[in-house]
Amino acid sequence: MFPWKSTISIHRAGSKPLYLQLTEQLIQEISSGRLAPGLKLPGTRVLSEILNVNRKTVQNCYDELLAQGWLITKPSSGTYVSHTLPISNFEKLEASEIESPNVVGHSQRFNLEFIPNYKPAKTRLSFDGGSPDSRLAPWKWIFRESQSILLSRKNKTVANYNDAKGDVHFREILAKYLAESRGLNIAKDNILVTEGSQMGIYLSLHGILNPNDIVVVGDSSYDAADWTIQSSGAKIQRVTVDENGLDIDKLEQLCSKKNIRLVYITPHHHFPTTVTLSNERRIKLLNLSSHYGFTILEDDYDYDFHYSSNPILPLASLNPVGNVIYIGSFSKLLAANVRVGYVVANQHLIESFSKHRRIVGRQGDHLMQHVIAEAILTGELNRHLKKSCQTYKQRRDLMAKIITTDMSDFIKFRLPEGGMAIWAHFIDVNLPQLHEAINRNGLNLDIDRDLSRKFNAARIGFASVNENEILEGMEILKTSLKQLAS
Ligand SMILES: Cc1ncc(COP(=O)(O)O)c(C=O)c1O
Repeated sequence: MFPWKSTISIHRAGSKPLYLQLTEQLIQEISSGRLAPGLKLPGTRVLSEILNVNRKTVQNCYDELLAQGWLITKPSSGTYVSHTLPISNFEKLEASEIESPNVVGHSQRFNLEFIPNYKPAKTRLSFDGGSPDSRLAPWKWIFRESQSILLSRKNKTVANYNDAKGDVHFREILAKYLAESRGLNIAKDNILVTEGSQMGIYLSLHGILNPNDIVVVGDSSYDAADWTIQSSGAKIQRVTVDENGLDIDKLEQLCSKKNIRLVYITPHHHFPTTVTLSNERRIKLLNLSSHYGFTILEDDYDYDFHYSSNPILPLASLNPVGNVIYIGSFSKLLAANVRVGYVVANQHLIESFSKHRRIVGRQGDHLMQHVIAEAILTGELNRHLKKSCQTYKQRRDLMAKIITTDMSDFIKFRLPEGGMAIWAHFIDVNLPQLHEAINRNGLNLDIDRDLSRKFNAARIGFASVNENEILEGMEILKTSLKQLAS
């Protein structure tokens, strides 16, 4: 009889479920040959008594090992160690060995070491750089709708391989929606559905740029757009941003000296400073684009959130599918996990980008696209938008009020007219030290290293935190700022 009691050790105080502890140890015993192929295992009741665990624990463990192929069952006989074992987890290489550049190497074209790794906030509370509150999304409605679509005849369309450009029905509805909400005069063939704005930025830049092309961005701009430009081999040229957005006179001076291929902008609320590109500058930018022949990449990531007045129509609405490529997404309107965005451009570009999209990720989530089409048609999306705007406005106002009353010695800011974050300038505050202090007290702030070095500023997101979280987080921020100052 196998010495179960002395071989298997179960830690009840640990965080790992007991059945997983048992599963891992049985795999180890089978891999090492101590539990040999063909050996009959005790029944679940017997083993649970030997190990003094619940019978369900052993049952779950056996189920897992059966699913993984370590065990087999013989009808009316019992459970046995399989003769054909799967590859053992314990033989897997460590990640560090796999990633060694000497072993695998990577092409020069895709040397992306300059892109930092994602580090999730480990604190209880987090003021991110400006994300929606995923708790507000109409999940029940989305799940009900998904279920009804999947159980209908539409299953054949949405649950199968389909057009890389995106679901035809969705693109038709989206074209009308963008015409009504943003004044874009377009048809479905001007739309490529992407996985969020980021994929749109990538496909547009990589579809247009050649190595050493010059791309103008604001000083500063959205870091992931910078990375995407760099990854294409193009060169970044920065132009100042003031309270009216990108300085178009400076851009004009640059155009007269250099051959500009593309200008990347976030005109509705400039990232990171949140200012809106003025109407006068929009017209001038469009004229420059025609005159000098550069493309404008308009990233309208947070068009939906405007609190003080009506949103300004996109540049693309003044230049239907001409020099402007327009990018939008439902990831901000619904939640970051809803990876449905779009590129709007002339049909020729859409055809070409969609070939690239086809080889990068085959196609998007056609089910979610159908759900969003339904949300547009039934008014569910608009109801959600209205609710989110109201809530985010209240959160913005609360955060702004607390900073003004309690922290005006340390933080200067301009009330953003929309978006999801306040661009906060810290006065005589060492941001890395502040970051450490608030982290110790359970709050994270999205401090971008480059932005904080250059401007001693950070985006403080207000949308994803509710009132209580704002009150608690702001208290931590205030206390830490005072402590650092004293
Ligand atoms: C300016 C800007 N553009 C694009 C994106 C990417 O958004 P998505 O989640 O739709 O890819 C973000 C995300 O924060 C952003 O801030």
